[in-house]
Amino acid sequence: MQFGHFDDTNKEYVIQTPKTPLPWINYLGMDGFFSLVSNTSGGYSFYKDAKLLRLTRYRYNSVPLDSNGHYFYIKDGDTVWNPGWQPTKTELDSYECRHGLGYTHFSSEKNGLKAEDLVFVPVKDSCEISRVTLTNDSDQEKQISLFSYVEFCLWNAMDDMTNYQRNLSIGEVEIHGSTIYHKTEYRERRNHYAIYHVNAPVDGFDTDRDSFLGIYNGADKPDVVLAGESKNSVASGWYPIGSHHLKVTLKPGESKTYIFLLGYVENPKDDKWESLGVVRKAPALAMIDRYDTTAKVNAAFEELKKYWTELLARFTVHSPDEKLNRMVNIWNQYQCMVTFNMSRSASYYESGIGRGMGFRDSCQDLLGFLHLIPDKARERILDIAATQFPDGSAYHQYQPLTKKGNLDIGSGFNDDPLWLIAAASAYVRETGDTSLLSENVPFDNKEELAAPLMEHLRRSFDYTLEHLGPHGLPLIGRADWNDCLNLNCFSDTPGESFQTCANYESHKAESVFIAGMFVKYAKEYGDLCELLGNTAEKGRAYKASETMEQTILTAGWDGEWFLRAYDAFGEKIGSKECEEGQIFIEPQGFCVLAGVGVKEGYAEKAMASVKERLDTKYGVALQQPPYATYHLNLGEISSYPPGYKENAGIFCHNNPWISIGETVIGHGDRAFEVYKKTCPAYIENISEIHRTEPYVYSQMVAGKDARNFGEAKNSWLTGTAAWTFVNVSQHILGIYPTLNGLSVDPCLPSDIEGFTATRQYRGATYDIKVTNEDHAQKGIKAFLVDGKPIEGHVIPYDPDKKHYQVEIIM
Ligand code: GLC
Ligand code: GLC
Repeated sequence: MQFGHFDDTNKEYVIQTPKTPLPWINYLGMDGFFSLVSNTSGGYSFYKDAKLLRLTRYRYNSVPLDSNGHYFYIKDGDTVWNPGWQPTKTELDSYECRHGLGYTHFSSEKNGLKAEDLVFVPVKDSCEISRVTLTNDSDQEKQISLFSYVEFCLWNAMDDMTNYQRNLSIGEVEIHGSTIYHKTEYRERRNHYAIYHVNAPVDGFDTDRDSFLGIYNGADKPDVVLAGESKNSVASGWYPIGSHHLKVTLKPGESKTYIFLLGYVENPKDDKWESLGVVRKAPALAMIDRYDTTAKVNAAFEELKKYWTELLARFTVHSPDEKLNRMVNIWNQYQCMVTFNMSRSASYYESGIGRGMGFRDSCQDLLGFLHLIPDKARERILDIAATQFPDGSAYHQYQPLTKKGNLDIGSGFNDDPLWLIAAASAYVRETGDTSLLSENVPFDNKEELAAPLMEHLRRSFDYTLEHLGPHGLPLIGRADWNDCLNLNCFSDTPGESFQTCANYESHKAESVFIAGMFVKYAKEYGDLCELLGNTAEKGRAYKASETMEQTILTAGWDGEWFLRAYDAFGEKIGSKECEEGQIFIEPQGFCVLAGVGVKEGYAEKAMASVKERLDTKYGVALQQPPYATYHLNLGEISSYPPGYKENAGIFCHNNPWISIGETVIGHGDRAFEVYKKTCPAYIENISEIHRTEPYVYSQMVAGKDARNFGEAKNSWLTGTAAWTFVNVSQHILGIYPTLNGLSVDPCLPSDIEGFTATRQYRGATYDIKVTNEDHAQKGIKAFLVDGKPIEGHVIPYDPDKKHYQVEIIM
């Protein structure tokens, strides 16, 4: 069942009912000011840090679901309704919500009145704009009331929902004309405030929640709206809100447009004690001035659209499969940008107060957006590298605002160091900018410990080599990519389990997954060494990679597939000898994509075992069979009920590893089949089962052992976005940046007879045309660059050329 449809021309998903199986959200903003907005106007805004600078209040885990947002109420006679349906839930005559790139557009009708609300955050400004247009489609004059409503958060979102003894006395506002200033905590001279403004004279306002709603009412029945009159309340402590009242008269056929602006404002830096408790209005007035007419707002909206059009033009494909096109050209890249902005901080599943930026997560996210915003990717790599420890290990997370490593979580995830190589190598392959490698970067954020980035990569590489276990495989530490496989943490002290225990260092559990990563990234490190002229170090890296490959083929092979790990007692994990957890997805995917066992035929076997044992109709499960009970020696993985999350859920993040693995051995049909199973556009018609947004990936889909097989959770903020984009663009379509230029070597499903693609790469445009009349899955018969045949599939790079015409016959 579908609840909407894609509009590819406008790059929108069109939701046709507010009653979607779960809230379907969008992200607004790209620079500092961000909003989450759902298809029923739920959501909230924050500035830069969803924990520390939250503008509006959201209630996670609330009933009804998704019940706080930025709302408009319309009172038309006795009928009160909202263009986004919530919170009154008045049945609408028509409803539509279009989620586009950086904006959301509601348009609804009730009793001959049409209300449109276009919400967006302008490029490079710290406010959210709502352009509200009311149209009288009836043949009677209408006299209606329009009320706006936002509930302010007292900035620190954690404090906001815990520290009531203080919070209920600190709320402060000022009202000047049509502008409401929310200045709570101004006295601590945090020097920032929020404004909520409308570009028309108001007929009233409210800033105190209890006055507006009525003490015992919910947002579905606000006193003020039902009465049709504002109370002009001035909040003092308690719960500050912002609400404007506009009385609007509309002749038949008449339309009126109002601009509402919710802004974040910082006072000038020199403002100290003098103006205590007084907002300095100049910056707010300047912001208001930038959007005080519909024409200015329309221009800002056009600028936003232009921004996205230009950005996404950096990689486009046209194939006979329109779902493939829409994912590659629009939604997958869009989601990659959202993971760049949000990391794992704020979604409808991440509360914005939990995690900082993950070391491994951010390095992987980079793989999906560095072709779009290479400069920001460069900055991000340097930020991440600065949280590495001198021995090559890394803080597992850091805070975006301070960029300091997070002490609560610390280090000990032994895959982390290698992801830095993955990110740096991808950046240099994309941009050719080797200056990154000589940037001086602190260790542990200490300037005195700074060293060139290349030295950071060396320590990443050596960290693995210096931490090998009894079989010569890398030690796993607290966990590798699979956070929940905690093989060294078997404390049974209540409250001390999984990753909180401190004893992981003395134990010897080993990871075949990290071994696979090492085979791949040691070579990529070696290639960077060679690029900088250090052939001896390249030799060392390649040799270590080959040795590791041999170790995997002996100690890491189970006969039909790759083992997952050895636990702290030297017992096998992910082996046919195990009762549960016999086969895991991660080492199959990563070893094969690293090329391990391809010559020996092991790769073929591993992929066949995945298909036989892990595949389901909704994707490839993380492992099988699931753990039925909790095992102290395995940790968090066995704490999940069978079929969910790491315990045999379909973890979408590593499905593309399998798909890439299949392309390595030339199986284009199977690679595409795996790609499609979790790909939103292909499963749009099972939205009633899948439940999360059909335009973005979710972290996890419940596996076949779960009661709700096929149901997804944790949409938006997942490494799945980056890896699926890497898979489809670099491996299936086969357009892969190498250190020496762009390589094109597709691995297609045999029924795709070709495609064209446009790719911006190192300042040049590549127009690529692939024909596949022979229905091949892999292999190139002819490769022409500007009409001339070349050897191999890497297009020779010429810094002076701005345009390449590439023709390939498979
Ligand atoms: C989550 C984490 C990621 C981890 C994965 C598997 O997605 O963000 O770091 O690799 O779970 O446990
Ligand atoms: C990862 C996992 C999640 C786990 C978390 C912390 O994000 O996906 O299941 O709760 O790590 O261990």
